[in-house]
Amino acid sequence: MPYQQAKYDEPLISEMLSLNSYKLPDYLSESETLIPDSLKRKSLKLPEVAEYDVVRHFTRLSQMNYSVDQGIYPLGSCTMKFNPKFADKLSSFPAFTNGHPLEDETTIQGYLKIMYELQEYLKEISDMDAITLQPRAGAHGEFTGVLIIRNYLKDIGELEKRREIIIPDSAHGTNPASASMGGFDVVEIPSGKDGTVDLEALKFALTEKTAALMITNPNTLGIFEHNIVEVAKLVHENGSLLYYDGANLNAIMGITSPGKMGFDIVHFNLHKTFATPHGGGGPGAGPIAVKGFLKEFLPVPTVSKNDKGYFLDYSAKKSIGKVGSYYGSFNTILRAWAYIKYMGGNGLKSASERAVLNSNYLSRKLSEKFDIPFKKLKKHEFVLSTENTGKRALDLAKFLIDNGVHAPTIYFPLIVHEAMMIEPTESASKKDLDAFAEILVRGLDLSNEEISKLPKNLAVGRVDEVKAARDMKITWSL
Ligand SMILES: Cc1ncc(COP(=O)(O)O)c(C=O)c1O
Repeated sequence: MPYQQAKYDEPLISEMLSLNSYKLPDYLSESETLIPDSLKRKSLKLPEVAEYDVVRHFTRLSQMNYSVDQGIYPLGSCTMKFNPKFADKLSSFPAFTNGHPLEDETTIQGYLKIMYELQEYLKEISDMDAITLQPRAGAHGEFTGVLIIRNYLKDIGELEKRREIIIPDSAHGTNPASASMGGFDVVEIPSGKDGTVDLEALKFALTEKTAALMITNPNTLGIFEHNIVEVAKLVHENGSLLYYDGANLNAIMGITSPGKMGFDIVHFNLHKTFATPHGGGGPGAGPIAVKGFLKEFLPVPTVSKNDKGYFLDYSAKKSIGKVGSYYGSFNTILRAWAYIKYMGGNGLKSASERAVLNSNYLSRKLSEKFDIPFKKLKKHEFVLSTENTGKRALDLAKFLIDNGVHAPTIYFPLIVHEAMMIEPTESASKKDLDAFAEILVRGLDLSNEEISKLPKNLAVGRVDEVKAARDMKITWSL
């Protein structure tokens, strides 16, 4: 059955007005007298819309969209996987939504227990010694990690000298951004012929100026850095630190860990690996775990336990301070805790094994038509190039969407031309994978002219991306 997305001429909610709309209670307008004139707006048009119109408005908008609840979402590097509904339900329990961060510790023991247990689980999964749940995203975790590196180097009197962070050319863009925001210069090293870190290039880049190496494993090509122990040795012998971008943890849970590989600092993307949908700017969490010698630098508070119960621990003597308000994205923390409890250790391991199996099955299938650079065995994701087919990755991505499948990440990593970065995750079935491959290959039968006119079956046709970037409209007037 051909895919057809709903299409409505939907106004903005602020342009809607309905009978029986909600009105602010009188006592609120009376309190207007308490607001100083200088702070009052001349006019403020709040939407006045009845409940049924609000529900219909958002239902229609959702029908003009694609979601993980509709089908597979193989966005490489973004891990859009199984997000169990019980975790959604749990996170909306009033007992969890009504808490206030300023409540006395004795009244929030349940919250603190969940946070404490999650800290312990993540330490066990990563084989690290200490952790903070405070950062709100992967990139925020990276930035926190870089500040820890900075403060550690200052503490041992080496910050003046160690001004550089080395990052492979396959890295996610947030890595160099975080390093640079933390005040370091970025030194990029090329990947070797097999897509992993080129040891010779690393040796050349490692100098007395090197503060750290930031790296993802498996890397963004989906390839496991098989030399990681050697890499860790080189970095440590140079007096530098090793940072693990844990966005790809979904590939290795229960099989190996950043702690075993020799990393000093790790961030987790709870909103990828542990049951919160990623993307759309929603809430996330990027906890940071460290080896014991960096424990005192973690942001405060962390959650600890003594014979009286759980408490917010501010005792870290060299803490970099706070990196966010209060204690972290509790909602995301709660989902991750529930997901880990639900899966158990063996469940997490089999999630990783299935994610890797699915990725290899699909890459093998697609390798009959597409060039898959870097032939090494892939982990949870792989990158193909559409260049050999004469089609643009963008056009094939539009073809996929037009056929009711979310497109993978395209044009990343930058080292592959016409790249499609595909991460099916463990939650795709064989039927899903076969259907995805069949549609993608079918896209090759269209002429370049036909395919460039797609999508046709969606609420929105092909947008002018250059105009959208150059002539951005981010406000509107009523
Ligand atoms: C490899 C990698 N590192 C870091 C990040 C940054 O994570 P976040 O989007 O939560 O800031 C991502 C996000 O997609 C990623 O794929």
